[in-house]
This record gives sequence, structure tokens and C-alpha cells, in this order.
Amino acid sequence: MSPPVVFVPRESRPGETRVAAVPETVRAFAKLGLDVAVERGAGEAAFVADAELEHAGARLADADTWGSADVVLKVQPPTVEEVGRLREGAVLVSTVFPARHLEEVAALRDRKVTTLATDLVPRITRAQSMDVLSSQATVAGYKAVLLAASHLGKLCPLLMTAAGTIPPARVVIFGAGVAGLQAIATARRLGCVVEATDVRLAVKEQVESLGGRFIEVEGAEDLEGEGGYAKEASADFLRRQREEVARRVAEADAVITTAQVPGKKAPVLVDEDMVRAMHPGSVVVDLAVESGGNCALSERGQVVQRHDVTIVGVENLPATVPLHASELYAKNLLNLLKPFVKPGEDGADATFAPDFEDEVLAGCLLTRDGAVCHAPTAELVQEEVGS
Ligand code: NAI
Repeated sequence: MSPPVVFVPRESRPGETRVAAVPETVRAFAKLGLDVAVERGAGEAAFVADAELEHAGARLADADTWGSADVVLKVQPPTVEEVGRLREGAVLVSTVFPARHLEEVAALRDRKVTTLATDLVPRITRAQSMDVLSSQATVAGYKAVLLAASHLGKLCPLLMTAAGTIPPARVVIFGAGVAGLQAIATARRLGCVVEATDVRLAVKEQVESLGGRFIEVEGAEDLEGEGGYAKEASADFLRRQREEVARRVAEADAVITTAQVPGKKAPVLVDEDMVRAMHPGSVVVDLAVESGGNCALSERGQVVQRHDVTIVGVENLPATVPLHASELYAKNLLNLLKPFVKPGEDGADATFAPDFEDEVLAGCLLTRDGAVCHAPTAELVQEEVGS
């Protein structure tokens, strides 16, 4: 016997710069007795050198390690080609966003891979340290504000100078979830005046505690659903919300949109009329662009000018801050897997024995033994790809 091989390949999807292991997590896995193999150059785009990973206890490996690995750690959903390189029965730990990658899910099923989809980790208190959606949304919310500030033809803070006084920039944030709250905190640190709207009334206090103002919508009902997520808002609510926020958007220098409803297309909250009403030189940063966009004029992957407003639809913001985004992501994976690694005793090798009865693992178990275990995905795969 030899210890389980944990392989960290180079990410292959275009624009991805993050890596699923950093020296700290390599050291922890190696200390538990696992054989950590990292593909040469896997950390390069995240500024993590091969030598650092090697020093932490990894062995540098080639792409052919895919086929001999017991556990593969990834950031982006695997491509169908990558699934083909996995050995049957291997464990893949990666984001999958299954509703958008049904072909890949079917391939994982057919390859009899055990897939732990990190984006499906249940949002319970115990799993906070394993929650990749939160860690990456934190990075995205922060970066969204910096993008808004850098595209703005204005300064952010109130400045009283000998040449005159400059008022603070006004920022409106749609959606005060993890990304939105981080955007509020970052915009406040830059000295902006911040207002935020959400369909979940529970966030009002959180917005205020960060120094933001919560935009109240008359007759708002709390649309908090299962797991703390938003429920889809009614057309009537969206109309009232639009009336309430349109005025603020027209006065805003920057609008940052982060509103999402799990499993649905993102709601369009900033329409063309609202953009037209904004001052020339203002900015919209649309963090929901990958799920359809909150701004009607945003274009996926592009920065465009419409009605003299800059609309930023850059995708995958965490990949633009790869070092810290990778550190957080890698630690989420370590926290998820560590409880199931049993260090070898009395000269025996370490083992990796995931307990699929565990609430967190059961929640993120996507495929196993040739079946899709996540019910909503199983249904979609059946409808779209077939058995
Ligand atoms: P998300 O990315 O799905 O949505 C972002 C925000 O958009 C949410 O606050 C949502 O209410 C809001 N939204 C949806 N439709 C809207 C509309 N029409 N207008 C305005 N806002 C709208 O959510 P995220 O940030 O991933 O998490 C949401 C919540 O889940 C958290 O605030 C928290 O309560 C819970 N959570 C719990 C965790 C845990 O306990 N482990 C970890 C992370 C989140």
C-alpha cells in the first residue's frame, strides 16, 4: 500500500489564474500523510512558485498524474476531456456549478467519479470555513469597488483641499449578500456614501453596521428563503423597488449589482432608462453578469460605454486577485477534507475515508458509483443529456 495521491492540476479554462492548493494547505495535507502531487506551473498564474509548493512538501508532477490520482483538487469545473483522464472511482473536489455544466456532470457520472462539488457545500454555520461561494464572493465584492473607482472620472472620498472641496462619491449596491456586504465595507473604506437594497430584510442591520444606508421598499415582505438565500421577487415588488431605487441610481456615481437567486437567471434591476438617467462618467459594475446580469446593458466579459456610462461586465473577478483568492479557496478545501483523512499509525499509511452520511459531504456529493446524487441536478441531466 502507499498513501493516497492528492493531485492538483493546472487549471485549463481560459482566464483562470487560481490554484486549488497553496503552500499552507500542501503542508497540512502532507503532514497528515497524504502524497501531494502538484502539476508543474499549477500555481504560476497565482504567483505561487513550484519551489514554494515543493518546499511545503509537494512533489512536482506531470499531467499524466490525472490517471493515478486518488483525489483531484480543482478550482474550475473539469472539462469533459479532463473527466476522461480521471481514473474510475477517483474523488474530484472542485466547483461544478452543475446546472451550467450538465455534459460534464454526465461525464463524471459515467466515469464513476465521486464528485464533491464545492459550490454545493450547505450554508450552515459549521460549514462556513468550507464555503467557497462566500470566500470567493468576498474577493469579488472587494474588487468590484476597486473597478468602479478606477473607471470613475472622480475621486471617492470627501476631500477638502486648498483648491476646493470635493464631495464623496455616491455608491448604490444591489444585493447585500456576501459580495454586496464586502462591497459596502470596501466603498466605505474609500470614503464613499453607500446605499444598498435587498429583498431580504434581515440584511438591513448588517448594511447599517457597515456604515451603509438600507433603501426601504414600501410594503416589502421578507423574501428570505431556505438556507438564507433570496426567493424570487414578485413583479410587483420589483416595480416598487425600481421606483424607490431609480432616484438613487440617477444620483449615484457608481452602481454595483450582486443580486442573485440560486438556480434562476439573475433579476434585471437596472434597465436602460435607469442607465440613461445616470450622470455621464458614472459606472455600473455587474457582478451577476455570469448568471445573466442585473443590468440590461452589461455584456459578459466586456467593459462597454452606454449613454456615457461605463458598464463593467468582467467575469470571474476572484481570478483577478489570484493569490488571496487561491489561499482562501485552498483553505476551504482543506477544511472540507481534513476530517476524513486518518493519519497512518504504527508505520501504516494515511487513508482518506469520506463519510457520505456527514451533512456537509452529503450536501455537496454530486456523483458517485455511476449515479448523480444531487436530486435537482439528476433531474436536469436526465432531461437534457439522458442516461
Ligand atoms: P447570492 O449571491 O445568492 O445573492 C446575493 C444577494 O442578492 C442576496 O443577499 C439576495 O438576497 C439578493 N437579491 C436577490 N434578488 C434580489 C433583488 N431582486 N433585489 C435585491 N437584492 C436581491 O447570496 P449570497 O451572498 O451567496 O448569500 C446569501 C445569504 O446566504 C447570506 O447573506 C447568508 O444569510 C446566507 N449564507 C449563509 C452562510 C452560512 O451560514 N454558512 C454562508 C454564506 C451565506
